[in-house]
Amino acid sequence: MSKLHGLLALSLVVAACASSDPGPSPTTAGSAPSSTSPVNVRTVDPRPGAPGIGDPLYPNLGNGGYDVADYRLELEVEPATGMVRGIAAVEAVALHDLSSFNLDLVGMEVRSVDVAVAERRGAATWRRRGRELVVVPAEPIPAGVVFVVTVVYEGVPGPVPEGAVPFAPGWRKVGDTIYVFDQPDGAAGWFPANDHPRDRATMTLTVTVPEDVVVVSAGERSSRRVGDGRREYRWVIDDPIAPYLVPLGIGPFRERAEPPAGSIPVTTWFDPDIPEGRLEPFRRQGEMVEFFAERFGPYPFERIGALIVEDESLRAALETQEVSTYTSPSLAWGEAVVAHELAHQWFGDAVTVARWDDIWLNEGFATFGQWLWAEHDVGPEVYDRQVMRAYRTMSGLDRASSGVPPEDAARQAREAYPPPDHPRADELFSASVYQRGGLTLVALRDLVGDEGVFDVLEEWVRRFGGRSATTEDFVALVEERLGAEAAELVTAFVEDPQIPPMPQRGLAPPG
Ligand code: ARG
Ligand code: ZN
Repeated sequence: MSKLHGLLALSLVVAACASSDPGPSPTTAGSAPSSTSPVNVRTVDPRPGAPGIGDPLYPNLGNGGYDVADYRLELEVEPATGMVRGIAAVEAVALHDLSSFNLDLVGMEVRSVDVAVAERRGAATWRRRGRELVVVPAEPIPAGVVFVVTVVYEGVPGPVPEGAVPFAPGWRKVGDTIYVFDQPDGAAGWFPANDHPRDRATMTLTVTVPEDVVVVSAGERSSRRVGDGRREYRWVIDDPIAPYLVPLGIGPFRERAEPPAGSIPVTTWFDPDIPEGRLEPFRRQGEMVEFFAERFGPYPFERIGALIVEDESLRAALETQEVSTYTSPSLAWGEAVVAHELAHQWFGDAVTVARWDDIWLNEGFATFGQWLWAEHDVGPEVYDRQVMRAYRTMSGLDRASSGVPPEDAARQAREAYPPPDHPRADELFSASVYQRGGLTLVALRDLVGDEGVFDVLEEWVRRFGGRSATTEDFVALVEERLGAEAAELVTAFVEDPQIPPMPQRGLAPPG
């Protein structure tokens, strides 16, 4: 089924860029005149795709040599045992002549791998090495050609240990409920992927489960009974998505429709054990999105939602695309966390980071969004108070006022809260990334006002939405729209060892 779809999609691609004449088979086409050749199958200089996409912080995340266009993922899941049987058809275009290429996959047992190039489909050889699944197609894949690699695999997925960060992101099973929390490198624990925010692709996620649970993800949903007391859910995600941003929940979730944001529907899925009284903040998702849309530009996706899972062992939320994921302990953060994850839909999801060490572009911006919502909803004094508190921590003013000599206080703060850009590999989600990152946009707003800061944020998403971007891209945009002083301010806030003063607020580091 999936395989037919893949070949169909592929032949459409081929038909679109070549003559409709069936022509010779690709083998002979290699030596035939190019006018009758459906694709160029000659390779000049085949070499392996790189085992990493080129992320300076995490050199082996993602892969080089190809760009994924679409994932077609079919999973059969047994919630009681955690067993998953999967078929992943990954459609990609070769970026150079490929003798082999890697997918990221951790754990799971691979049953078979094959590669289809144009109408030629053949078994591939493969080997596992750490998180790398190395695929060697029967023949090299020429640069520019679309290919589909199909991986049949099975096993009991789980969080991915010893990866990029000191915790294990990924697939989580709590009782019979399953969900994923994949940032930054956990997606490879449940499907073969180019697991990096730089490579986004569409996805059709088909999950078959027992009738007593539902499957939640992003995109357009359909479902049908498939016999044996089972139901197949299909989620078609047609806004290209980074693997770590794919939402997934499998469990007895209840569904609640919330007030929409204009014509954009809002849905909350929640574990039935969570009292509805704790779900009040989720009623306001539409309102929050309308508020952000006035400042950040149009909401970048077609749906809005929340998936709330009961998991006492993790207090966290994640901006999974369209449908953010919240664990029950994260509800203690109230509306702030909901505003934060919704702001991420613009910053993190519409614009993804090209390199993980620019993560402040996600977390700083979402923190700023969360402060803006508090200002709007409760009052400017709340914004000012949160900004002040963050600055006092980040600068060392709080240490100084509790008796630490000013120079020592400033030095201790520099050590505890280094500049938010380029954090250490194990500090991806540090307090500085969030708070000094957020203060960067507050300082910019103090300097240029609402019109200036929101002009830049809206243009940021207009220009880089659907793509990934870097701090350099942001600084260049600030310079273009707001001038050199504004650009220097941003650079100083995210790069300098010492946090700059915020003169409009009468704030400066101690000493
Ligand atoms: N990006 C997430 C957020 O919205 C943070 C995830 C941090 N990971 C964790 N396991 N706490 O802030
Ligand atoms: Zn965040």
